[in-house]
Amino acid sequence: MSQQNIYDNDKFYETFKNLRATELNFNDVIETPIITKMLPDLKGKKVLDIGCGMGQHAMQYAKSGARSVLGIDISEKMLSFAKENNSAENITYRKMAFEDLWQLDEKFDVITSSLAFDYAEDFGKLMKQIYDLLNKRGTCVFSMSHPISTAYDGVYDRYTRTKDGERLYANLHNYGIEGLRHIRWVVEDYEVYHRTFSTLVNDIAAAGFVIEECQESKLPEEIRLLHPDLFGGVIHQPDFIFFKCRWSDDYTERR
Ligand SMILES: C[S@@+](CC[C@H](N)C(=O)[O-])C[C@H]1O[C@@H](n2cnc3c(N)ncnc32)[C@H](O)[C@@H]1O
Repeated sequence: MSQQNIYDNDKFYETFKNLRATELNFNDVIETPIITKMLPDLKGKKVLDIGCGMGQHAMQYAKSGARSVLGIDISEKMLSFAKENNSAENITYRKMAFEDLWQLDEKFDVITSSLAFDYAEDFGKLMKQIYDLLNKRGTCVFSMSHPISTAYDGVYDRYTRTKDGERLYANLHNYGIEGLRHIRWVVEDYEVYHRTFSTLVNDIAAAGFVIEECQESKLPEEIRLLHPDLFGGVIHQPDFIFFKCRWSDDYTERR
């Protein structure tokens, strides 16, 4: 399985870090409020955060009362930011790719991930590994790019616009063709995997999970209207999709 470690590329890392630090970034304004609502009560729970990046979520979970949080990530730069800026007694950061999750010899009550699974070549295998790392009746809550958002080539404008630049329609590029996409974003050759919505749902179910909740990007109308350039696209195409999946002991029927 190929592993891309674009976050250790200097230009990409600096750009991402600066974007994540802006007041109105998509992570804080759109992603975090939705995933936070979907998470179970973390008090006393053992949490794994996959693709923890700079540790903002790990810190949030530690402050919410988690007994312990293990954050794993493939990028040394992201982990070193996390260790410097988002450390706490009950957080451990470890350099590890999610393709190697099978190496962990402990189980978790809650497994979470924010916007990291776009980089998974084999999403079905990843879901099975996560399932096997959960304690009985554990929960996995994650966000990733929405299939509508990854059906894009990065070359043409995402939107068909009026002559004044107002967004009219979101453009889809080869929605039905799954696999690796080379997109122009910060670097010339940014790689993400595109999958259809049905593949996501079927891979989650095939791993053994029961899907309890699914959400898509949304944000309060007043924020969208206040910042139309930044957030005006959300009503045309949801950038992110979110799943809450529950461990279920009848999984053998599905695997
Ligand atoms: C968009 S960032 C999100 C970071 C963090 N979860 C957040 O919400 O701010 C994606 C993260 O996934 C990590 N990542 C990408 N591929 C990975 C892999 N194969 N294994 C583990 N982490 C990976 C990247 O290094 C990066 O830190």
